[in-house]
Amino acid sequence: MASKSRILAPDVAGIAAAAACLRAGGLVAVPTETVYGLAARADDGAAVAGIYAAKGRPSFNPLIVHVADMAMAQTLAVFSPLAQVLAERFWPGPLTLVLPRRAGAPVAALVTAGLETVALRCAAHAVMQALVRDVGPLAAPSANASGRISPTRAAHVLASLADVPVIDAGPCAAGVESTIVAVEAEGWRLLRAGAVTVEELMAVVRAPLPGRAEVGPGEGIIAPGMMESHYAPQQPVRLEAVTAQPDEFHIGFDTVAGDATLSASGDLAEAAVRLFDLLHTAQASGRAGIAVAPVPNHGLGLAINDRLQRAAAPRG
Ligand code: TXA
Ligand code: MG
Repeated sequence: MASKSRILAPDVAGIAAAAACLRAGGLVAVPTETVYGLAARADDGAAVAGIYAAKGRPSFNPLIVHVADMAMAQTLAVFSPLAQVLAERFWPGPLTLVLPRRAGAPVAALVTAGLETVALRCAAHAVMQALVRDVGPLAAPSANASGRISPTRAAHVLASLADVPVIDAGPCAAGVESTIVAVEAEGWRLLRAGAVTVEELMAVVRAPLPGRAEVGPGEGIIAPGMMESHYAPQQPVRLEAVTAQPDEFHIGFDTVAGDATLSASGDLAEAAVRLFDLLHTAQASGRAGIAVAPVPNHGLGLAINDRLQRAAAPRG
């Protein structure tokens, strides 16, 4: 059977081919500074349905909409003064804002999974920027099969999703997904730790409201994608592992060398960049299990530990 899966270059011709595919209602995997996203026009219900089908994603889990700038964002959502401050400081960049959806916003109902809010992200990556400017708002979750390890390289996308064209711009610079913040009347809530640290947010805005990241379907969904098991390799994952068994692939950090290390110097930014790549490597190693060294829980460590805990969680 002929495969539609193909690699596009991150140049003018590759971006033009991707834009044509998206405009016609197709899907394209697109690099961002966090992870690769699986993009479709946000205003095209059939195209968006294609994202859910390709990922095997449950339809109650809404998608992030990518915009090129504040003007495009304001056609889709209502910005409070606090939302405006956050966007001005962190966009373009790895911050996603969950905001009230504007009435009549050209976003397919499936994108927001029936919520009154919409998650907006203005990525800094030149390829995503160019496509959104050209095609308009794009819905784009991470380009992996639902519940599996996120992709930070084109090869990870190809290994996880069949029949999807991928623009290959090399490894992602941040390596963990965007930080998701819900902006509410009384303040903001951290829905997902990510590439913008809480410390960076707190330098600009006051402390967050208590988080509710673990709300399940039917309980008033806040970040429905924050399911306990996620980012799961095929093998069981064991955390806080200073030593490993012979049948485990050991991911090191700092003084724990392991079979491969997140960062020999204990650098959390380097660890974030390597996290998903090493989980993919560990998964492909054929070892019976994966053991991961302790990683401190501050700065980017919050996002890294969040992903590791979900990778290690009992599978549903
Ligand atoms: O870095 C990223 O954010 C990447 C790149 C591709 O942009 N995208 C990404 O998308 O991580 P995804 O679908 O893997 O995760 C998006 C999360 C999910 O947990 C989803 O439930 C949540 O955002 N989300 C989307 N819309 C929401 C909304 N209106 N309210 C609350 N959570 C929402
Ligand atoms: Mg994801």
